[in-house]
Order: sequence, then C-alpha cells, then structure tokens
Amino acid sequence: MTVHKVTAPEPAGSPEAVAGFPAHFMWGAGTAAYQIEGGVHAGGRGPSIWDTFSHTPGMVRHGDTGDVAADHYTRYMQDVALMQKLGLTAYRFSVAWSRIQPDGSGPANQAGLDFYRKLVDELLAAGITPVLTLYHWDLPQALEDAGGWPARDTAHRFADYAELVYDALADRVPIWTTVNEPWCAAFLGYCSGRHAPGRHEPAASLRAAHHLLLGHGLATAAMRAMGRAPDNRFSIALNLDPILPDTNSEADREAARRIDALYNRIFLDAVLLGRYPEDLITDARSLTDWSFVADADMRTIAAPIDLLGVNYYRPARVAAKTPGAETPTVEATAGTPHGGWGGERSPYPGCDDIESRPAPGPVTASGWEINPEGLLEVLLRLDREYPAIPLAVTENGAAFDDLVTSDGRVLDQGRIDFLDAHFRVSAEAMEAGVDLRGYFVWSLLDNFEWAEGYTRRFGLIHVDFASGERRLKESALWYRDVITRGGLA
Ligand code: FCB
Repeated sequence: MTVHKVTAPEPAGSPEAVAGFPAHFMWGAGTAAYQIEGGVHAGGRGPSIWDTFSHTPGMVRHGDTGDVAADHYTRYMQDVALMQKLGLTAYRFSVAWSRIQPDGSGPANQAGLDFYRKLVDELLAAGITPVLTLYHWDLPQALEDAGGWPARDTAHRFADYAELVYDALADRVPIWTTVNEPWCAAFLGYCSGRHAPGRHEPAASLRAAHHLLLGHGLATAAMRAMGRAPDNRFSIALNLDPILPDTNSEADREAARRIDALYNRIFLDAVLLGRYPEDLITDARSLTDWSFVADADMRTIAAPIDLLGVNYYRPARVAAKTPGAETPTVEATAGTPHGGWGGERSPYPGCDDIESRPAPGPVTASGWEINPEGLLEVLLRLDREYPAIPLAVTENGAAFDDLVTSDGRVLDQGRIDFLDAHFRVSAEAMEAGVDLRGYFVWSLLDNFEWAEGYTRRFGLIHVDFASGERRLKESALWYRDVITRGGLA
C-alpha cells in the first residue's frame, strides 16, 4: 500500500479563514491508549502500571479496568470510519509503551508496532493527520518495579522507546508529542497516589516530574537527530489552568502563587525557558535539595519544540487552610483526580496547608467548573509570557450524563454548549494574535476515565461498554457541521 503522508497544517491567519478559524486549522479529537484500546494481552503487550492499579481493589471506582475499554484494539477501522464521517482533519492518540516494549526495554515487539502502523495507515487513507503521543501515563510495570519515574533511568528508557516508535512511524506521522500531562503522571501518580502507580511520596514526586521532563527532552533530541522526516514537528502536552485564589486575602494569593508554580510554571519554565522557577526551588527546599537535577539537564529539557499542546478543562481555585478548620469533604469540593482534591491527599508536594475550593458556578458531571474564559486566560498568558511557540488545544471537553433516547439518539446539549463556548474564546484568542493551530476535543469516544472508571462519559461518540456499539452523539453531528463550515455559525 502506498502511504501518502498528510502534511501538517499551515500557520494561522490564512485569508480563507471562517469565523476566526484559519483554513488549515486542525479539527481533531483525542484518545489515549489505556482509555480505549482494551486487548491488554493481545499482540504480546506487557502489563503497565494502569493494569496493576486498576486491578488493585479500591483504586478505581466500581473496580473498573481497561481490560476491554472501548475495544478499539479490534474496532479501530470502524473508529477511523466514524472519524471520517465527522470530517475530522486530525486525530490525537497515544501509543501503549508496553505494546512496543512489553517489559520497558529491549527491541521493539513487531506486533505492537504493526497495530499502530495499521491505525496510522487507516487514518492517512481517510485523509486524517495522525498526531501521536508517546506517553499517556501507561508506564510498563517492569520499569515501575525498577523505581518508576522517580528513578533517573526511566527517562533514558523513555528516549529508547521513542526512537523505536519514531523509526517505525516517522514517515507517516507528522506531529509527535512526547509526554501527556506530566503534572498528572508525577503528582497524581507519586504524590496524592490517586492515579497509578498510587504512591504517596511527595519528595519522590518532584523527582518524577523532573525525569518526565528529562525523558521529554532526551526523546525530542533523539527523534530529531534521527533526521528521518525534517518537516515533522515535536511537542509536549501540558495541562494548564489559571490558578485562582479563593479570596483576595494575602494568604490565598500566596497559596495561588505556590500552586501556579507547581502546576503551570514548573513545566512551562523548564521546557520553554530551560529553568525551574526560583520561587518553586525555594518553596520545595523542605522536601528536596534538588540534587537530582544534573548539570546539563535543563538544557536537555529545553530541547526546541515546534508546538505546545494545551490541555484545558477548568480553572483551579485554591485557599490557604484555616488552622483548625475542618477539611471540606470530597463531595463538597467535587474532589476529582484532576486538580481538585477535596478531602483527599493533596497532589501538590509540600502543600498540605493549601486546599482546593469548590466552583461557584455551573459544573459538568465530573463536578468540574465550566469556565471558558479560563481557556482564554491560559492562551493569552502563553502568548504573553512564553511567546513564539505555536499552540494547539490538545484536550478540551466535558463529561455529561448523556441521554440515550428510545429511537437511538444521544442527547448532549450540555456538551455542545460547552464546546461552542470554548471554540468561541479560541477564536477570540486568535483574533488577539495567539498562534493556535488546532483543537482536539476530548474525547472521540466514551472511555475509561482513570480513577473514575466508566462513570464519566467524555465522548463525542457514545459507547455501549457491554456490546462495544458506537453511536454518534448530537455533539458529534454538531461538530461535523462546525468542521464542514470551517468555524462557528
Ligand atoms: C486529562 C487526561 C485525559 C482525560 C481527561 C478528562 O487530564 O489527559 O486522559 O482523562 O483529562
């Protein structure tokens, strides 16, 4: 089969732009391997930390696992056909490391590479740009057993793995993302323990963050040095939020500064400026002397990238804990694995004196605040404080309790309103000069939402998890019209 690589879209600002969106804008949707694939023993795949974690009683709601998930491993052709029906121009997916290296090191497992090659060829044949993420949280269990991300060697193992995948797919995939949301992988994985591998070791979580970044830098440089396809673009996807102090008190503003350092600036400054924020280094002194940062590391981490992926869901509201006051319950703050932590352990190392505050306004089914202005704020901040790096919204979307009607329609007006509002602020950002290249709705399919199991439906496409049957939601039809039109009405 001859493969015609779809070239990456051109910069914003094309004359044929419609309603604020340039003609070559990437209209996409995203998924992640463990959340949709299933087939956990197929093709020689080895176990990852998420297999272990989800099979550990009490870790995931209802004991759900990704064993079958949306069964994408067997249904990928049908899924690409659905993407084509929606008119997607790009699709963001992740590769399961333990399909490529079942125990995290050594030569590539051919069956694993073949699966992704077939998926990519199917996408290319459908005219859809593949946007590949190398790491969406599913570390091979063998590497966790050897120390996980707090161990420096994991960063080198990651670069080796990146080279194997790049070697196999560089000629077909134009956009490469190293790591998805290192904040979640480091701090939910190793500080609060709300995500795999479920460790509660605040000091080690800072090492994990550093090694995830080091892995990103090493992998980026290694792939670029292979020189396979000079037009390919490299990126990292960060979850970025405005951090809002609950009140204007000095204590709350100070709390917001510390959380901003540990949520946004730790990653942005490292990748784009080649340093960690001074205030963070000082704040974390009681936990670490930072001696795990070797001399050349920051230069490695700041390897040039071509695109920054922005994952945005909602702002985070924080407050200084009042001494002696009762910690709010999980229910009261809709504590979730992604930033709000309510009565649970804080995901922020050294910040047990800071608490997450509930949203004042409307929320999604995850209890997450609906706040499109927050996305505008993030995009404008990036443009102001970290200029000259093209951006893509690599995740944005919402869980709602969709209504399946007796005639088989899936009603999800809440999701349509949510996306419409976030698209509008994106157009506004572009009008203000932000170089935004694309938008990937989270998610293409309903899927395994990590510690929340199957209780949160984020898909444009409804999945019946018992039968695997797919159904386009009203939001998918709406998105199809947006794409056909090339923008909002
Ligand atoms: C992001 C994750 C993604 C999904 C969404 C809802 O933090 O990257 O896998 O869980 O949240």
